[in-house]
Amino acid sequence: MNVNVIYYSRGGNTKKVAEVVAQECGVEAIDIAERHVLPETDLLFIGMGIYAGRPDHVLLDYLDQLPANRVKGAALFTTSATGKDRTELVLNLLTHKGITPYKIHCNCKGRFLLKNKGRPNEVDFEEARNFTRRVLRAFNG
Ligand SMILES: Cc1cc2nc3c(=O)[nH]c(=O)nc-3n(C[C@H](O)[C@H](O)[C@H](O)COP(=O)(O)O)c2cc1C
Repeated sequence: MNVNVIYYSRGGNTKKVAEVVAQECGVEAIDIAERHVLPETDLLFIGMGIYAGRPDHVLLDYLDQLPANRVKGAALFTTSATGKDRTELVLNLLTHKGITPYKIHCNCKGRFLLKNKGRPNEVDFEEARNFTRRVLRAFNG
């Protein structure tokens, strides 16, 4: 099974979580701002920061352009100031392509201005590792 981890991170918080998720999967995290072509993928972890209540359009455009039959499963993780799940637009896009993401998402708090100093932190990373293991187990059946 080919697993890949992609992310879009303006400030580096999501990048840190993506690297933990990727390490757990035994792959390198792919920054979609730098690398546009997705390698052969069965299961795709998708990481995103949240800006003004939504993921960046760079990530949305990237997912919109993914060939529909390219990916069989997906799992979402976010970082944001509130730690709330704001993945609706991504979910709509993926569902439209016939990809149903894993039902649980990993939502970490990320540092933003004076809030959440030091986040994501080791506790967040451990949560991300547990999330990754859970998704891998579910996908492997
Ligand atoms: C321009 C901007 C807008 C943001 N808007 C929100 C928001 O609406 N809700 C929220 O919870 N966090 C918001 N944040 C905080 C980010 O989601 C948080 O810092 C996140 O960890 C950023 O991820 P990144 O470092 O990977 O870019 C905003 C941050 C920036 C820079």
